[in-house]
Amino acid sequence: MERISKEFLRFSMHTPVLLQQAIEKLNIKPNGLYIDATFGEGGYSKEIINKGGKVLAIDLDKEQLLKKKSEFLQDKIIFLQGNFSQIEEIAKKNNFYPADGIVFDLGLSMEQIKNSSRGFSYKNEDEILDMRIDINQSLKVVDLIRKKSAEELEEIFSKYSEEINSKKIALEIKKRKRIEKVKDLLKAIDKALGFKSEKTYSRIFQALRIAVNNEFENLKRGLKGALNIIKKEGRIVVVSFHSLEDRIVKNFVRENNLNFLEKKPIKGVFSYERSAKLRTIIL
Ligand SMILES: C[S@@+](CC[C@H](N)C(=O)[O-])C[C@H]1O[C@@H](n2cnc3c(N)ncnc32)[C@H](O)[C@@H]1O
Repeated sequence: MERISKEFLRFSMHTPVLLQQAIEKLNIKPNGLYIDATFGEGGYSKEIINKGGKVLAIDLDKEQLLKKKSEFLQDKIIFLQGNFSQIEEIAKKNNFYPADGIVFDLGLSMEQIKNSSRGFSYKNEDEILDMRIDINQSLKVVDLIRKKSAEELEEIFSKYSEEINSKKIALEIKKRKRIEKVKDLLKAIDKALGFKSEKTYSRIFQALRIAVNNEFENLKRGLKGALNIIKKEGRIVVVSFHSLEDRIVKNFVRENNLNFLEKKPIKGVFSYERSAKLRTIIL
Protein backbone atom coordinates (compact mmCIF):
# COMPACT_ATOMS: atom_id res chain seq x y z
CA MET A 1 0.00 0.00 0.00
CA GLU A 2 1.21 3.45 -0.82
CA ARG A 3 2.37 5.30 2.23
CA ILE A 4 0.63 8.62 2.72
CA SER A 5 2.37 10.97 5.09
CA LYS A 6 0.47 12.66 7.92
CA GLU A 7 1.55 15.95 6.43
CA PHE A 8 0.04 15.14 3.04
CA LEU A 9 -3.23 14.07 4.66
CA ARG A 10 -3.53 17.33 6.58
CA PHE A 11 -2.77 19.30 3.47
CA SER A 12 -5.20 17.44 1.26
CA MET A 13 -8.00 17.90 3.81
CA HIS A 14 -7.39 21.66 3.72
CA THR A 15 -6.57 21.88 7.38
CA PRO A 16 -6.06 25.55 8.01
CA VAL A 17 -2.69 26.56 9.38
CA LEU A 18 -2.18 26.63 13.14
CA LEU A 19 -5.81 25.68 13.73
CA GLN A 20 -5.48 24.11 17.19
CA GLN A 21 -3.09 26.78 18.38
CA ALA A 22 -5.39 29.62 17.24
CA ILE A 23 -8.44 28.03 18.89
CA GLU A 24 -6.56 27.46 22.12
CA LYS A 25 -5.42 31.09 22.23
CA LEU A 26 -8.96 32.34 21.55
CA ASN A 27 -9.99 30.59 24.78
CA ILE A 28 -13.56 29.85 23.61
CA LYS A 29 -16.35 30.34 26.13
CA PRO A 30 -19.79 28.76 25.60
CA ASN A 31 -22.09 31.30 23.91
CA GLY A 32 -19.21 33.77 23.61
CA LEU A 33 -19.07 36.04 20.54
CA TYR A 34 -16.18 35.37 18.14
CA ILE A 35 -15.41 37.16 14.92
CA ASP A 36 -13.65 35.09 12.26
CA ALA A 37 -12.41 38.00 10.13
CA THR A 38 -11.09 35.64 7.43
CA PHE A 39 -13.57 32.76 7.09
CA GLY A 40 -11.80 31.06 4.13
CA GLU A 41 -12.66 27.36 4.08
CA GLY A 42 -14.38 27.73 7.45
CA GLY A 43 -11.97 25.57 9.49
CA TYR A 44 -11.53 28.09 12.30
CA SER A 45 -15.27 28.93 12.44
CA LYS A 46 -16.18 25.25 12.64
CA GLU A 47 -13.87 24.68 15.58
CA ILE A 48 -15.12 27.78 17.44
CA ILE A 49 -18.71 26.54 17.07
CA ASN A 50 -17.70 23.01 18.17
CA LYS A 51 -16.42 24.55 21.36
CA GLY A 52 -19.72 26.37 21.95
CA GLY A 53 -18.95 29.85 20.58
CA LYS A 54 -21.06 31.95 18.20
CA VAL A 55 -19.41 33.27 15.06
CA LEU A 56 -19.59 36.31 12.84
CA ALA A 57 -17.80 35.08 9.71
CA ILE A 58 -16.37 37.67 7.33
CA ASP A 59 -14.64 37.10 4.01
CA LEU A 60 -13.86 39.53 1.25
CA ASP A 61 -14.15 36.79 -1.35
CA LYS A 62 -17.80 35.97 -1.96
CA GLU A 63 -16.89 32.59 -3.44
CA GLN A 64 -15.07 31.57 -0.26
CA LEU A 65 -18.14 32.25 1.86
CA LEU A 66 -20.48 30.43 -0.50
CA LYS A 67 -18.36 27.27 -0.72
CA LYS A 68 -18.83 26.13 2.88
CA LYS A 69 -21.94 28.01 4.01
CA SER A 70 -24.24 24.99 3.72
CA GLU A 71 -22.10 23.00 6.17
CA PHE A 72 -23.06 25.29 9.07
CA LEU A 73 -26.13 25.51 11.28
CA GLN A 74 -27.42 29.02 10.69
CA ASP A 75 -28.30 29.75 14.33
CA LYS A 76 -24.61 29.58 15.31
CA ILE A 77 -23.12 31.77 12.60
CA ILE A 78 -23.70 34.98 10.66
CA PHE A 79 -22.02 35.20 7.22
CA LEU A 80 -20.93 38.53 5.90
CA GLN A 81 -19.17 39.31 2.63
CA GLY A 82 -16.99 42.30 3.44
CA ASN A 83 -13.59 43.70 4.18
CA PHE A 84 -12.17 43.23 7.65
CA SER A 85 -10.94 46.80 7.41
CA GLN A 86 -14.59 47.58 8.27
CA ILE A 87 -14.79 45.08 11.12
CA GLU A 88 -16.05 47.63 13.63
CA GLU A 89 -18.92 48.79 11.40
CA ILE A 90 -19.81 45.19 10.45
CA ALA A 91 -19.89 44.01 14.08
CA LYS A 92 -21.94 46.99 15.20
CA LYS A 93 -24.42 46.70 12.35
CA ASN A 94 -24.96 43.04 13.23
CA ASN A 95 -25.08 43.72 16.95
CA PHE A 96 -22.17 41.31 17.39
CA TYR A 97 -20.06 43.12 19.97
CA PRO A 98 -18.31 43.45 22.34
CA ALA A 99 -16.54 40.33 21.09
CA ASP A 100 -14.84 37.74 23.29
CA GLY A 101 -12.34 37.00 20.55
CA ILE A 102 -11.35 38.01 17.04
CA VAL A 103 -9.15 36.06 14.66
CA PHE A 104 -7.35 37.19 11.50
CA ASP A 105 -5.79 34.35 9.49
CA LEU A 106 -4.17 36.50 6.83
CA GLY A 107 -3.55 35.94 3.14
CA LEU A 108 -5.36 33.44 0.98
CA SER A 109 -6.21 29.77 1.38
CA MET A 110 -4.28 27.21 -0.70
CA GLU A 111 -7.52 26.22 -2.37
CA GLN A 112 -8.22 29.82 -3.37
CA ILE A 113 -4.69 30.32 -4.74
CA LYS A 114 -4.84 27.15 -6.80
CA ASN A 115 -8.41 27.08 -8.03
CA SER A 116 -9.96 30.52 -8.19
CA SER A 117 -8.61 31.20 -11.74
CA ARG A 118 -7.54 34.71 -10.82
CA GLY A 119 -3.81 34.41 -11.49
CA PHE A 120 -2.77 34.22 -7.82
CA SER A 121 -0.23 31.49 -8.53
CA TYR A 122 2.72 31.72 -10.90
CA LYS A 123 2.09 28.03 -11.59
CA ASN A 124 -1.18 28.70 -13.43
CA GLU A 125 0.45 30.19 -16.52
CA ASP A 126 -2.63 30.65 -18.68
CA GLU A 127 -4.66 32.62 -16.18
CA ILE A 128 -5.26 36.35 -16.51
CA LEU A 129 -3.37 38.48 -13.98
CA ASP A 130 -6.40 39.48 -11.96
CA MET A 131 -5.53 38.79 -8.27
CA ARG A 132 -8.56 40.60 -6.82
CA ILE A 133 -9.77 39.02 -3.59
CA ASP A 134 -13.01 40.97 -3.94
CA ILE A 135 -14.39 40.29 -7.40
CA ASN A 136 -16.56 43.43 -7.16
CA GLN A 137 -13.45 45.61 -7.15
CA SER A 138 -12.71 47.07 -10.57
CA LEU A 139 -8.89 47.27 -10.45
CA LYS A 140 -7.08 44.08 -11.46
CA VAL A 141 -3.32 43.45 -11.59
CA VAL A 142 -3.35 43.82 -15.39
CA ASP A 143 -4.74 47.36 -14.94
CA LEU A 144 -2.27 48.15 -12.17
CA ILE A 145 0.66 47.11 -14.36
CA ARG A 146 -0.69 49.20 -17.24
CA LYS A 147 -1.32 52.31 -15.15
CA LYS A 148 1.83 52.40 -13.02
CA SER A 149 5.14 53.82 -14.23
CA ALA A 150 8.35 51.77 -13.99
CA GLU A 151 9.32 53.77 -10.87
CA GLU A 152 5.98 53.06 -9.22
CA LEU A 153 6.19 49.34 -10.03
CA GLU A 154 9.72 49.23 -8.68
CA GLU A 155 8.46 50.78 -5.44
CA ILE A 156 5.67 48.19 -5.16
CA PHE A 157 8.13 45.33 -5.66
CA SER A 158 10.73 46.59 -3.25
CA LYS A 159 8.26 47.73 -0.59
CA TYR A 160 6.03 44.67 -0.58
CA SER A 161 8.48 41.88 -1.33
CA GLU A 162 11.96 43.32 -0.72
CA GLU A 163 13.02 41.88 -4.10
CA ILE A 164 16.54 43.06 -4.89
CA ASN A 165 15.98 43.02 -8.65
CA SER A 166 12.87 45.23 -8.45
CA LYS A 167 14.22 47.94 -10.74
CA LYS A 168 15.32 45.57 -13.52
CA ILE A 169 12.02 43.70 -13.42
CA ALA A 170 9.91 46.86 -13.41
CA LEU A 171 11.82 48.28 -16.40
CA GLU A 172 11.45 45.02 -18.35
CA ILE A 173 7.71 44.89 -17.65
CA LYS A 174 7.19 48.44 -18.92
CA LYS A 175 9.16 47.67 -22.11
CA ARG A 176 6.55 45.08 -23.08
CA LYS A 177 3.44 45.99 -25.03
CA ARG A 178 1.03 43.96 -23.02
CA ILE A 179 1.28 41.87 -19.89
CA GLU A 180 -2.01 40.07 -19.55
CA LYS A 181 -1.44 36.51 -18.48
CA VAL A 182 0.69 34.89 -15.79
CA LYS A 183 3.08 33.57 -18.45
CA ASP A 184 3.64 37.09 -19.86
CA LEU A 185 4.81 38.26 -16.46
CA LEU A 186 7.04 35.20 -15.99
CA LYS A 187 8.71 35.87 -19.34
CA ALA A 188 9.41 39.48 -18.37
CA ILE A 189 10.92 38.38 -15.03
CA ASP A 190 13.09 35.71 -16.77
CA LYS A 191 14.35 38.29 -19.27
CA ALA A 192 15.14 40.83 -16.55
CA LEU A 193 17.06 38.29 -14.44
CA GLY A 194 18.62 36.27 -17.25
CA PHE A 195 17.53 33.04 -15.52
CA LYS A 196 14.44 31.43 -13.99
CA SER A 197 13.82 31.90 -10.28
CA GLU A 198 10.72 30.58 -8.54
CA LYS A 199 11.63 32.60 -5.44
CA THR A 200 11.55 35.79 -7.46
CA TYR A 201 8.26 34.79 -9.11
CA SER A 202 6.63 34.31 -5.73
CA ARG A 203 8.02 37.58 -4.39
CA ILE A 204 6.76 39.57 -7.39
CA PHE A 205 3.35 37.86 -7.27
CA GLN A 206 3.11 38.55 -3.56
CA ALA A 207 3.93 42.23 -4.07
CA LEU A 208 1.34 42.67 -6.82
CA ARG A 209 -1.34 40.92 -4.78
CA ILE A 210 -0.64 43.08 -1.72
CA ALA A 211 -0.77 46.23 -3.84
CA VAL A 212 -3.94 45.48 -5.80
CA ASN A 213 -5.85 44.42 -2.68
CA ASN A 214 -4.46 47.14 -0.44
CA GLU A 215 -3.64 44.40 2.05
CA PHE A 216 -1.44 46.30 4.50
CA GLU A 217 -3.84 49.22 4.83
CA ASN A 218 -6.69 46.75 5.40
CA LEU A 219 -4.72 45.02 8.14
CA LYS A 220 -3.93 48.30 9.91
CA ARG A 221 -7.58 49.37 9.79
CA GLY A 222 -8.81 45.91 10.75
CA LEU A 223 -6.65 45.81 13.88
CA LYS A 224 -7.75 49.30 14.86
CA GLY A 225 -11.42 48.40 14.40
CA ALA A 226 -10.95 45.14 16.32
CA LEU A 227 -9.61 47.05 19.29
CA ASN A 228 -12.81 49.12 19.45
CA ILE A 229 -15.11 46.09 19.63
CA ILE A 230 -13.18 43.60 21.75
CA LYS A 231 -14.03 43.00 25.41
CA LYS A 232 -11.45 44.10 27.96
CA GLU A 233 -10.52 40.50 28.69
CA GLY A 234 -10.91 39.45 25.04
CA ARG A 235 -8.17 38.25 22.68
CA ILE A 236 -7.20 39.17 19.15
CA VAL A 237 -5.33 36.36 17.39
CA VAL A 238 -3.37 37.13 14.23
CA VAL A 239 -1.77 34.55 11.94
CA SER A 240 0.59 36.27 9.51
CA PHE A 241 2.70 34.91 6.69
CA HIS A 242 5.57 37.26 6.16
CA SER A 243 7.72 39.62 8.13
CA LEU A 244 6.05 42.71 6.67
CA GLU A 245 2.63 41.69 8.03
CA ASP A 246 4.17 40.70 11.34
CA ARG A 247 5.81 44.12 11.58
CA ILE A 248 2.40 45.79 11.22
CA VAL A 249 1.06 43.65 14.08
CA LYS A 250 4.06 44.45 16.31
CA ASN A 251 3.83 48.19 15.58
CA PHE A 252 0.11 48.17 16.32
CA VAL A 253 0.71 46.59 19.73
CA ARG A 254 3.48 49.04 20.58
CA GLU A 255 1.59 52.14 19.43
CA ASN A 256 -1.50 51.20 21.42
CA ASN A 257 0.29 50.10 24.59
CA LEU A 258 -1.06 46.58 24.26
CA ASN A 259 0.67 43.28 25.01
CA PHE A 260 1.24 39.90 23.45
CA LEU A 261 0.17 36.84 25.42
CA GLU A 262 3.22 34.89 24.34
CA LYS A 263 6.85 36.05 24.49
CA LYS A 264 7.63 34.74 21.01
CA PRO A 265 5.24 34.06 18.12
CA ILE A 266 4.02 30.51 17.66
CA LYS A 267 5.36 29.04 14.44
CA GLY A 268 3.97 26.41 12.11
CA VAL A 269 5.42 22.89 12.06
CA PHE A 270 4.16 21.39 8.79
CA SER A 271 5.82 22.52 5.57
CA TYR A 272 2.68 24.30 4.31
CA GLU A 273 2.50 26.41 7.49
CA ARG A 274 6.20 26.92 8.14
CA SER A 275 6.15 30.61 7.31
CA ALA A 276 3.10 31.22 9.53
CA LYS A 277 3.42 33.10 12.81
CA LEU A 278 0.69 33.36 15.40
CA ARG A 279 0.46 36.17 17.91
CA THR A 280 -2.22 36.82 20.52
CA ILE A 281 -2.94 40.43 21.39
CA ILE A 282 -4.31 41.17 24.86
CA LEU A 283 -5.40 44.50 26.28
C1 LIG B 1 -5.82 31.92 4.94
S1 LIG B 1 -7.47 32.07 4.49
C2 LIG B 1 -8.34 31.71 5.97
C3 LIG B 1 -8.50 30.27 6.24
C4 LIG B 1 -9.44 30.00 7.41
N1 LIG B 1 -8.86 30.35 8.68
C5 LIG B 1 -9.93 28.57 7.44
O1 LIG B 1 -10.05 28.02 8.54
O2 LIG B 1 -10.22 28.02 6.39
C6 LIG B 1 -7.68 33.81 4.38
C7 LIG B 1 -9.05 34.28 3.95
O3 LIG B 1 -9.12 35.68 4.19
C8 LIG B 1 -9.82 36.30 3.15
N2 LIG B 1 -9.42 37.71 3.14
C9 LIG B 1 -8.27 38.26 2.67
N3 LIG B 1 -8.27 39.59 2.86
C10 LIG B 1 -9.43 39.89 3.48
C11 LIG B 1 -10.01 41.11 3.95
N4 LIG B 1 -9.37 42.29 3.82
N5 LIG B 1 -11.22 41.06 4.55
C12 LIG B 1 -11.87 39.86 4.70
N6 LIG B 1 -11.38 38.69 4.25
C13 LIG B 1 -10.17 38.70 3.66
C14 LIG B 1 -9.43 35.52 1.91
O4 LIG B 1 -10.41 35.65 0.90
C15 LIG B 1 -9.35 34.09 2.46
O5 LIG B 1 -10.55 33.40 2.27
